[in-house]
Amino acid sequence: MEPINKIDHLYAPPQDFVDQAYIKSRAEYEKMWKQSIDDPEAFWGEMAKNLHWFKPWLKVYRGDFGIGDNEWYVGGKTNIAYNCLDAQIAQGKGDKTAILFQGEPDEDCRSISYREMLTAVCRFANVLKKYGVQKGDRVILYMPMIWQLPVAMLACARIGAVHTVVFGGFSAEALRDRIIGSGAKLVVTANGYWRSGKQVNSKNIADTACILCQEQGLTVDHMIVVNHLKDFDTPWTLGRDLSFEKEMAETDISDVCPAVPMDAEDPLFIMFTSGSTGKPKGTLHITGGYMVYAYTTFKYIFDYKDNDIFFCTADIGWITGHTYTVYGALLNGATSVIYESVPTYPEPDRFWQIVDKHKVTIFYTAPTAIRSLMKKGSEWVEKHDLSTLRLLGSVGEPINPEAWLWYHQYVGHGRCPIVDTWWQTEGGGILITALPGAWGLKPGSATLPFFGVKPVILKPRPSENADPIEAGIDEEGELCLASPWPGIMRGIYGEPERFFMNYYTQQPGFYFTGDGAKKDADGYFWILGRIDDVVNISGHRIGTAEVESALCSHPAVIEAAVVGYPHPIKGEDLYAYVILSKEIEGNETLRQELVAHTRKEIGPIASPGKIQFIHEMPKNRSGKIVRRVLRKIAAGDAAGIGDAMINTLAEPHLVEEINQGRIV
Ligand code: WT7
Repeated sequence: MEPINKIDHLYAPPQDFVDQAYIKSRAEYEKMWKQSIDDPEAFWGEMAKNLHWFKPWLKVYRGDFGIGDNEWYVGGKTNIAYNCLDAQIAQGKGDKTAILFQGEPDEDCRSISYREMLTAVCRFANVLKKYGVQKGDRVILYMPMIWQLPVAMLACARIGAVHTVVFGGFSAEALRDRIIGSGAKLVVTANGYWRSGKQVNSKNIADTACILCQEQGLTVDHMIVVNHLKDFDTPWTLGRDLSFEKEMAETDISDVCPAVPMDAEDPLFIMFTSGSTGKPKGTLHITGGYMVYAYTTFKYIFDYKDNDIFFCTADIGWITGHTYTVYGALLNGATSVIYESVPTYPEPDRFWQIVDKHKVTIFYTAPTAIRSLMKKGSEWVEKHDLSTLRLLGSVGEPINPEAWLWYHQYVGHGRCPIVDTWWQTEGGGILITALPGAWGLKPGSATLPFFGVKPVILKPRPSENADPIEAGIDEEGELCLASPWPGIMRGIYGEPERFFMNYYTQQPGFYFTGDGAKKDADGYFWILGRIDDVVNISGHRIGTAEVESALCSHPAVIEAAVVGYPHPIKGEDLYAYVILSKEIEGNETLRQELVAHTRKEIGPIASPGKIQFIHEMPKNRSGKIVRRVLRKIAAGDAAGIGDAMINTLAEPHLVEEINQGRIV
């Protein structure tokens, strides 16, 4: 049967999927959703009973959601690493594969059972303790996608240390900011990793970061180095650097390490993410509520069953990898695939080859990956047997209907529902999504809120005291959340005021997501992208303010304004408008130098795709840069700059001037 391939079609889940699904109809969902909103304590109290608690909670929820005050499972004690490992083994899953590691070289492949994982985690937890790590201490994990990364995360969680995983693509400067921001004294890294046939020396970057930290008065006491690349020349600082393998093998390191009973609200990890202003913020996630939310979303959204093989392609350096590759998967006793490298090496069929080789049943990736693989042609997918797949997922940015249809037809063979999961770092877990057996899909819509989540679309408020105004059907507005769910972050590490300002002042009484959205007549949500100064490049979130400050730190630059513009593969890319010092000429060499400079200051993900040298910024009469004008020009839509916008400018003639110099 030819799959249906139409944008405006409602893609109902196949009957055999519905028959085995946890939630089989929208009516069944509505009933549960209503309960989760009307009586969150009863709902989330029930869900939490699926997990192990050393001590039961006294109260399920206490707080004031509209001002960012949330506490879940008050007084309860648990340990997420215990739930991920010991509790699974107690249920007879000791010999089941927990982590299936696939290296870039195909032969570098390793299955680690739940029992092996527990031993490794206990031993590493004992290594951490040996070097002075205690409950509450922060540990930086600057590691590639290797099985030792979840080992290190769970080892931290086991003893109550707080992990901060830093994405391997960040530069030494960005790593320094995160080490200092979290106040960590111990860093775990690897000597290097594979990227498209080349060996990347991540240890060098970590070394540089430590020197930069030293300049700011913070000393990293120890760096534990995984010897991932064999026979690879690794620089070594005696007294500070420790070999992961050697330490793990020491005879004084025990296989046993008791899991510390953690208060439900004790910190679990800090994850840095970009905001619309200033430096990246460290979102703080805690133990109990995060655990219950990761467990519950994984189970219902991926409709997880015992024999599933789960493959999430996100790097563990981002929240998706935390919540689904590691915690959600292991809390459900699943087998989770970790792949070291890129989808295009050695050929653009690597994901499909892995699905085929490891018999993956649930595949979760980002629209940018789908678009780039779609461009390579469907023959790369057709080479492989994907018949084990039963469910697909998408995350990170709105998925355009063309990519959705290709994914549905060529990867899912028209047989697999696609869960388009909207959420963000701050949320801890998926917030708006389909439940795959319960209702039909519309390509490009994330559909309905998960249990406990109540999204509202509000019109911008004219003043703080004005009442909230809900947008009508199909009307665009600001996506806000109106009800507490257990996974929400508890704060920005060390910056309580920024936390409140960033999320609770735009629409007083609501959590402000920073996304635009609309709701259609069926109640389906359509996410329309960021409405703040955050750009989503290939699913990586970058604040334009960070890039501007990186550009301005270059001696040739006087002023910079950075905006996003639509990009066919990446979704969005960065367009920088730069004013240079008088005596300096803006040529191609300088352009390349500025790109190199942002790569150094932040990382490759933040290098602008286009840089235009200009003489003057379009500002309003109070001297503020009018970014809407710059966004329109960058998108090639200068014609769409209306008179109203032009009239706000102090020097309206600049629009024409800047548009003439636009980089195409
Ligand atoms: C922003 C959050 C948490 C997932 C990884 C990214 C955008 C995320 C979707 C989606 C439309 C999406 C939003 C959001 N986003 N998923 N399914 N449809 N937009 O986490 O780095 O915190 O970025 O990503 O704009 O606010 P993040």
